[in-house]
Amino acid sequence: MSFKEKLIKEKLPKHVAVIMDGNGRWAKKRGKARIFGHKKGVETVHKIVEAAGEIGIEYLTLYAFSTENWNRPKDEVDSLMMLLVSTIKSEFNTLIKNNVRLLTIGNLDDVPKKVNKKIIETVEKTKNNTGLKLIIALSYSSRWEIVNAVKNIGYQIQQNNIMIEDINNELFNKFLTTSQIPDPELLIRTSGEYRLSNFLLWQIAYSELYFTKKLWPEFEKEDFYEAINNFQNRERRFGKTSEQIH
Ligand code: FPP
Repeated sequence: MSFKEKLIKEKLPKHVAVIMDGNGRWAKKRGKARIFGHKKGVETVHKIVEAAGEIGIEYLTLYAFSTENWNRPKDEVDSLMMLLVSTIKSEFNTLIKNNVRLLTIGNLDDVPKKVNKKIIETVEKTKNNTGLKLIIALSYSSRWEIVNAVKNIGYQIQQNNIMIEDINNELFNKFLTTSQIPDPELLIRTSGEYRLSNFLLWQIAYSELYFTKKLWPEFEKEDFYEAINNFQNRERRFGKTSEQIH
């Protein structure tokens, strides 16, 4: 029985977030340039978006480019930006056909104009799609997001729009880029690295974490379903005891 067949429909996570890692190492193993790995990684993006849609996942967030990724060699940054634009262009019809809505989180002010324009245009054109919400984290980092939220809250206090006493989890959440998105129940990271790399640190407070040694370009639909199966076999207690849950 495949992992897909074993899935329990009533216990699907609403939101799965993915740290797509290992493109560079995948290319290096084959004696190729890193961008070759990123291109292969785009094929995996296509497969996993399809896999998520097939089983009815509502939100899929992919960590495509972190704030820290700007420090990579200029060649690689430029190639990644070009790859993003060409992928959004080439996948546009598939997004429409599959009723996928594209959203982004991150500091879009930092990305080149051409990329920014294409993304905003695609977000706008897919805004009425009611299927899977595909969220691309681009020029994103949690610390950037949290500092930004604090600044904006401070500004609202200065303007007397909110009181310090009003600050709680719910209010803070409203100032994050993910305010309209539920927290992910499951976070997957590929490539055998066991870290969170500044990704959704506030939002994953109670997420289940799943790490696999597979490099992103070799991550298949069944690997995605295996991660969800693993999630479905866990007991989520949210700080309570096992007895309280049952
Ligand atoms: C991590 O591998 C991957 C990235 C930093 C970029 C991911 C981007 C894509 C898959 C392409 C575009 C994405 C979309 C959503 C269209 P790495 O370079 O850190 O690999 P390494 O750790 O082996 O060096």
